[in-house]
Amino acid sequence: PRARQPSISDSETLEALKHASHVLQTTHEPVAFPTETVYGLGASALSTESVKSIYAAKNRPADNPLIVHVSSLDQLKRKILKGREIPDVYTPLIEKFWPGPLTILLPLDSDSDVSPACTVGQPTVAVRMPDHPVARSLIALSDLPLAAPSANASTRPSPTTADHVYHDLQGRIPLILDGGACHVGVESTVVDGLSDPPMLLRPGGVSLEQIREHGGEKWKNVLVGRANAKTDEAVRTPGMKYKHYSPTGKVVLFGPVSDKSVEQAVKEYVTSGELEGKKIGLLTSLTLSNDTLPDVHTLSMGTTPALVSRNLFAGLRDMDIAEVEVILVEGIREEDEGLAVMNRLRKAASEEITV
Ligand code: TXA
Ligand code: MG
Repeated sequence: PRARQPSISDSETLEALKHASHVLQTTHEPVAFPTETVYGLGASALSTESVKSIYAAKNRPADNPLIVHVSSLDQLKRKILKGREIPDVYTPLIEKFWPGPLTILLPLDSDSDVSPACTVGQPTVAVRMPDHPVARSLIALSDLPLAAPSANASTRPSPTTADHVYHDLQGRIPLILDGGACHVGVESTVVDGLSDPPMLLRPGGVSLEQIREHGGEKWKNVLVGRANAKTDEAVRTPGMKYKHYSPTGKVVLFGPVSDKSVEQAVKEYVTSGELEGKKIGLLTSLTLSNDTLPDVHTLSMGTTPALVSRNLFAGLRDMDIAEVEVILVEGIREEDEGLAVMNRLRKAASEEITV
């Protein structure tokens, strides 16, 4: 279902926002909040103690930097840039995609107030302006730029509902703001316009095609970063080297495959004998259906790439709830929303079958 976007003029929402804002201003504990992409776990990016409490709550490796979330360009200039200008290379992207699922890297100045716990040795700070009334109101009310990773326990699929956050972090954080289901469903696109040519470091809610189309001349040559990196390699986006997006069940990814052969490939895999005695699940997308494997726990992520993106993480989590041991997933083509979806699925999968 489409996300219910709470109106901040309703008094219950306003009270909850004020309470969350008070927690952020007066304690170092992180608060979970909805964004249009996934739920975030936020605390002041300007306080090392607050940022450290985020890493502790989700058990995140300390060398993976966080995105700083701002509510307005004015706040970005006041609190992060301290009067400096945003590099011109980002102007068309900001005009087109902010607020929205786009994260940009900005130079980290030596006199920056951003906690080093947030940037962990990078020469840059990642910033985004989310497009969700609850997220932006919380940041504006507290007037704190919020460092916020996805609000899942480290290694788990990112949360797209308040229930997902509760499942992973109950007892570890003081509060979750419930804003309904996130409508994008995958995280923001991370781009680096400071390198030449500019780079796409993580595909996400804004597609590569959209960046090429709307970014202006320089972004027509955008390089796409590698999706995976071995643990010891120097990586452009440190998050790339970690286990990620993993449900408890083993994920087997099919694709990208031609429409005709995916059904055959899935059936062959299931009958090969390897899965004997295991509880199997099937997450379908554009072509497979409930009838593909009649005896198997089947869920549809949706029949358009946008729906697959929205329902992907919930689908993986639902398979865990059903105690599925082997999750077969029908992949989609790596274009438009498909690039971000397949990037997440490749990280979640222990095996990929291409036909
Ligand atoms: O949609 C999103 O971006 C969500 C919501 C909550 O806003 N947040 C999110 O944060 O996905 P997280 O921490 O799960 O992912 C942040 C990614 C990581 O891959 C990290 O390595 C990369 O951004 N990153 C952060 N700062 C960076 C920097 N200075 N240079 C390169 N990569 C950076
Ligand atoms: Mg994450």
